[in-house]
Amino acid sequence: MQIRQITGVFGAEITGADITDPAQVEDIHRAFADHSVIALRAQRADPASLVAFARRFGDININRFVAALPDHPEIAMIQKAPDQREAIGEIWHAEHTYDTAPAAASILHAVNLPPVGGDTVFISMGAAYDALSERFKHMLSGLNAWHSSRHAFGASKSDSETQRSGRTGNAEAATQDALHPVVIRHPLTGRRTLFINPRFTTHIDGFSRAESDALLGFLYAHCQQPEFQLRLGWSPGDITIWDNRATLHKAINDYHGHARMMHRITIEGVPLQAA
Ligand code: SIN
Repeated sequence: MQIRQITGVFGAEITGADITDPAQVEDIHRAFADHSVIALRAQRADPASLVAFARRFGDININRFVAALPDHPEIAMIQKAPDQREAIGEIWHAEHTYDTAPAAASILHAVNLPPVGGDTVFISMGAAYDALSERFKHMLSGLNAWHSSRHAFGASKSDSETQRSGRTGNAEAATQDALHPVVIRHPLTGRRTLFINPRFTTHIDGFSRAESDALLGFLYAHCQQPEFQLRLGWSPGDITIWDNRATLHKAINDYHGHARMMHRITIEGVPLQAA
């Protein structure tokens, strides 16, 4: 297995790995902890072997809102057809932060790709935190933020293209609200990490809406600096695993007129502690 770091900050590309070999899971997990995002190139994985690998990686969390692969409820289909305009996951987010124990990892398998485009971009939230001034870090410590599924998947979204097409649904189940520290101690690495995202974070607890919007707006602009980002291109068969407590991600929706199908499994996490 060869591991090549992708940026000076995070992310690694792994060649020569085989997710169907149980003996490699420990090394793959170590690379995941070290690099936050790992791209395992050229895997030969059918849905059953993807599920078997994910089970060895951790407990599987079944997504409530994204349509699952028939016969494999563990696999969410992140799909877009040629005539659709909205992609799933095109706003910066980490998976399931509206849960009290947000998802630890996501495992995304490239099944069908557009001829060009359809990359995924990641942000290292640990690197973004490190770059803040000490005074500002001190101000953030002790703050908590609310995260919710309601505005993202609830009834107000029932007219969205993803809901109308059946790619997402189950709006009545969008009832989750969770309070998490704005700066967490990462459960695997111990690193101090920002834990907020524009998709699911609604507001800072105890702040007025204007104060909360100003602080979150500043932090999102700060995090989106190219220095903290990694842009990943895909080839059919690639499997990328990312850490949802260490990174944000977003799907680049630049391939209208073409189909894209990814299979995603999400791994259970734990309640998060303040740094
Ligand atoms: C996701 O948001 O989980 C999927 C990202 C992608 O489709 O690239």
